[in-house]
Amino acid sequence: MANTAKNIPELAGIATYADAARIGFSVDENVRRLLRFHWVERRLMEILVAHLTSEPVWEVKCALALHQGQSAEHVDALRRRVSEMRNPAPRLDAIPENDPTAAALDEFLEQVDAAEDTDELLTGVYDVAYSALAEAYRDHIARTNPLVDQPTRRLLRFALIDTEDALAWSLARDGWREDRREWADHLRAYLAAAGGVTGERNPVPVDIGRYPPRATHHSFHPRRDERFRGRYNFEFAPHVVYSMPDVPAAERNLALLCKRTLEMDVPEMMASFMTERTGQPWEFYRDYSRQLWDEARHAMMGTVAFEAKGVDWKREIPLNISFALRLNLHATPIERQMMLYAIEQSLMPSDTGKRYEYQTAVAADDALSAHFHDYDWADEVLHAQIGRRMLRREGISSDEAREQAKEIHEKTWAALEEYRALDEQHDWWPDFVHRVLGRVSSAEGRPGLNIFAE
Ligand SMILES: [Fe+2]
Ligand SMILES: [Fe+2]
Ligand SMILES: [Fe+2]
Repeated sequence: MANTAKNIPELAGIATYADAARIGFSVDENVRRLLRFHWVERRLMEILVAHLTSEPVWEVKCALALHQGQSAEHVDALRRRVSEMRNPAPRLDAIPENDPTAAALDEFLEQVDAAEDTDELLTGVYDVAYSALAEAYRDHIARTNPLVDQPTRRLLRFALIDTEDALAWSLARDGWREDRREWADHLRAYLAAAGGVTGERNPVPVDIGRYPPRATHHSFHPRRDERFRGRYNFEFAPHVVYSMPDVPAAERNLALLCKRTLEMDVPEMMASFMTERTGQPWEFYRDYSRQLWDEARHAMMGTVAFEAKGVDWKREIPLNISFALRLNLHATPIERQMMLYAIEQSLMPSDTGKRYEYQTAVAADDALSAHFHDYDWADEVLHAQIGRRMLRREGISSDEAREQAKEIHEKTWAALEEYRALDEQHDWWPDFVHRVLGRVSSAEGRPGLNIFAE
């Protein structure tokens, strides 16, 4: 018996008896630190969302979408952990209370948010903020008692994996770190005034003469980088072609892949109401944060399919910005939410909805497209549920939302007039079909493009 037990690790393998005998953070100190981590993750999520629409570089947009979602997951886990340790839980939707340097920490995050271009944004978010957060997580994991505080340690280890992945993404991008040293110094001065992420260091007041605080400005006019063309060409035949009964499956499938790629316009729209609707319950941000990442992922699926087909999708497909443009600048935040709700619901019927899209890809014998649409469908079912939760919170009936959505659609469609002159309005579809499928498009004589679709 004694022999059998000899090789079994003690304490469920969490730590040795000796390691677990070390005094770690008290519950008070633990909660104090976690509230700061929570606030940093929360503000970083908001900053990434707020900059997504106006960020021109596609690959950066993709990363912002992922990392805001990861930070939202960490916020969720940290909220739960804080509530486990303190009953009633401290206020979580505001700057941590009774923490002398919490306001300075928030001021630091305000400055990260004040980035004016891609390089400044990446410098602030990754080089300064996420890297300081990762250091604070490693420190916490090392110093807290592994037995008494196992739940915190576990959640921070997971958060650290995400954060290190985000940092690795940022580090792999070269040619920007030197240029932005001045901006990094500016931000580090503000972080030093907060005593670092944990607030443990001696706070050093900001030399305001040298580093005057910069004001934040968010734009929700969607941007694309110079590799793209036709962003104001609002002719987008795939919206109609994908469900035309007389068009062969191969062409409808091609239309679907174009629609997927265009789906970045949903994050570009969602970002505006997530930013402009302040003071909502956490569930609002958590749900939409998840959906935003899914929608960006769907756009990325489209790009993968085109890369696999050797199509230069950035140049060949005019990925117009009309959806986010008209809603962000010509509708209210709640109108945008209702529009999103109505669109998600419209994806559910089996004749033209997500089931049909999946079957189209199968009929076209495109295994990769079918694989993507299988998952796109599953995600969209989740989004329909998120939409229903939103209506319940807002006290809006689904009929009301659908009715309003039609009006919002008409009103914002009309608002596009003022942008039409910015690009040639050109029907690129027949040439594109001929180039990619090597045959003449069967979608001649299709109806107009004032459609209500994502
Ligand atoms: Fe979508
Ligand atoms: Fe989708
Ligand atoms: Fe969706």
